[in-house]
Amino acid sequence: MLAFYEQVHRSAIERDAADDLSPALHWAGNRFFNRFTDYAHRLGMRKALAYLDTEWGSLKGRSVLDVGCGRGRWTREFASRGCRVTGVDISPEAISRLAKEMPQHTFVVRRVTEAGFPPGAFDLVNSATVLQHLPDESQWSALRQIGVSIKDGGYFVALENCSAFANPFVFPHSPEDWVRMIESTGLRLRASWGCNFEILFRAWARLSAGLRRRSAGGTEVAAGRGAPPSFSRSRNLLRSFVYSSLAVASYAPEWCCHQVPLAAPTHVAMVFQKPKA
Ligand SMILES: C[S@@+](CC[C@H](N)C(=O)[O-])C[C@H]1O[C@@H](n2cnc3c(N)ncnc32)[C@H](O)[C@@H]1O
Repeated sequence: MLAFYEQVHRSAIERDAADDLSPALHWAGNRFFNRFTDYAHRLGMRKALAYLDTEWGSLKGRSVLDVGCGRGRWTREFASRGCRVTGVDISPEAISRLAKEMPQHTFVVRRVTEAGFPPGAFDLVNSATVLQHLPDESQWSALRQIGVSIKDGGYFVALENCSAFANPFVFPHSPEDWVRMIESTGLRLRASWGCNFEILFRAWARLSAGLRRRSAGGTEVAAGRGAPPSFSRSRNLLRSFVYSSLAVASYAPEWCCHQVPLAAPTHVAMVFQKPKA
């Protein structure tokens, strides 16, 4: 997993250093799809940040640890709200770019499972789609380190996958299990919201799986795990066209789902607090 992410960052920077989204979202990189996914994440994170704004009055001056900061999607968001941010990631390339781009903040190449910060060093720890990429035993070690590094009365924001789907690089849990795991480190859930409903993509996935089954004469076609299927150039172009069109059409339904959930979410945004001593 670590080698996988190091390689994802390296090749994303070689391909297009200005594209901050593909290493954090979909590394094969349909830009329309990644922009839509980023929008959907932001709808969930906006609620978490609004919650903290209400609790603290403002995030200005708060110390924030952004674990698995990647190319700095949330590091920048916290910095723009006046926080002092420390970003950690396993990718030396991503970290050295961020250190150049945001010299007033701190960036460290480190695993989220490793100790390294003094206990209670941060007002807030943020993990946006990071724990979900760690195998179970690493999720536990990461949560222990995160719990220790938060001040008494401080917060932990997590945006993680909660829908089982066939992807060898994602280790999701139901929202209830995420809460159980995180609360077992001593943190307490304060609020949570479903996000990334992605209803058009899910409808498309169901339709195309049905079509594949029919064209295979009713035999189940293995999907997801193992070697990725290779497609001809024309099929790739068609796929890219379909994904781009679905992404563009997905903004309004996604926004509606945040008002009235029309489907189960694929991610959950959660705010936890470390009890005051
Ligand atoms: C899906 S990306 C999310 C990046 C960023 N949080 C965002 O939302 O834009 C997951 C990130 O976690 C990092 N990562 C994966 N395993 C890690 C580990 N054990 N310790 C620290 N970072 C890790 C990857 O390098 C990658 O940047």
